[in-house]
Amino acid sequence: MIRKVAVLGSTGSIGTRALEIVHSRPELELHSILCNRNIDLLLKQKERYRPSVTAIASPRGECPEDVITGQDILEKAIDGADIVLNAIVGSAGLQASLICRDRGITLALANKESLVIGGELLKDYISSGGIIPVDSEHSTIFRCMHLEPRPVRGITLTASGGSARGIPVDRLHNAGPDEILDHPTWDMGTRITVDSATMVNKAFEVIEARWLFADIPVNVVVHPQSIIHSFVRLEDGCWKALLGNPNMKIPIQYALQYPDRELEVISDDKPISWGSLDFSELDRVRYPAFDIVMRAGLDGKTWPAAANAADEVAVEAFLERKIRFGDIAAVIEEVLAEHDAFEISDVETVMAADREARLEAERIVKRLC
Ligand SMILES: NC(=O)c1ccc[n+]([C@@H]2O[C@H](COP(=O)([O-])OP(=O)(O)OC[C@H]3O[C@@H](n4cnc5c(N)ncnc54)[C@H](OP(=O)(O)O)[C@@H]3O)[C@@H](O)[C@H]2O)c1
Repeated sequence: MIRKVAVLGSTGSIGTRALEIVHSRPELELHSILCNRNIDLLLKQKERYRPSVTAIASPRGECPEDVITGQDILEKAIDGADIVLNAIVGSAGLQASLICRDRGITLALANKESLVIGGELLKDYISSGGIIPVDSEHSTIFRCMHLEPRPVRGITLTASGGSARGIPVDRLHNAGPDEILDHPTWDMGTRITVDSATMVNKAFEVIEARWLFADIPVNVVVHPQSIIHSFVRLEDGCWKALLGNPNMKIPIQYALQYPDRELEVISDDKPISWGSLDFSELDRVRYPAFDIVMRAGLDGKTWPAAANAADEVAVEAFLERKIRFGDIAAVIEEVLAEHDAFEISDVETVMAADREARLEAERIVKRLC
């Protein structure tokens, strides 16, 4: 049977790869594409892939009549799909995940922020099997745990160390966007590339893993080659992992085809090409934002939502060269110091924390400029 796919965030790094996968598989049909404002690329995608629905959230000018915008575009892009790939970046992705939950539509989740800020609202949907992870580490854990008869002892997420790994610590504070965006192993969107350099991304992934794989201890190891995409530790002490050259098409295809459809060869690399595989502890001095965000994750409530909003503002300001790389951690820390956290019972509480933290972060950025 044909599976209809909605690709939200179709113009991004994950979205464009997802469109290629959908296009290459006869059993997948493109239901909809959605982006924020990149109308030029969206129209090219519409022309090439012919989805039933084309939608844009914040068009800069006029758009053609058959491109929908305005209120309820998320619902219009999602309704009618059998599976939704949520590849929107940032807290803007939460609403789409909640619509999938409410409609009972399978969610292939790349937008980690949905779980970081709104895990509480999605936990029942996770336990009912509604969410298939797309983040490569979590896809790996998901695959490794599949068919394991017993609970696993632990999860170890691998971290490349991002572009910051090769920059001397005393120069890191003033490193510019060009240097930070030059990721050694992964080709990704700008925010996640900066988040990889600060390790905010890895802290988010720990929070994400805690929601997806409840009650299993999670830790992190630095693995510069990004060949091992994470490990699980089995009950007898053995390790199970997925290995291969970094390529996000692998977890995207796996999620869209799950549970029992054919997988196409995406990578044919051989172990001999990998060279040596190295592992080391995370350097807390090099990556101060990791512990700041981890603390927010452990404290729960709206702390992670505030940390995410602060990071979104700080990363944008860094990319616009308004603040320095080293200021990103300081902005998050200062926003969290001012944050009044609330228990999460609904999406409004999360989004109110997001707005309040954003305003605070913008004030701090102005002061630092
Ligand atoms: N890239 C990776 O390899 C990777 C790996 C693991 C997880 N992820 C996660 O996947 C998500 C997407 O990452 P990415 O690297 O693909 O980001 P990206 O390249 O920056 O693309 C983001 C996409 O989201 C759209 N978007 C932003 N705000 C929106 C809004 N309010 N409404 C609708 N669409 C909106 C953008 O549209 P415009 O183009 O119009 O701005 C774009 O299509 C993130 O949560 C990231 O953490 C990414």
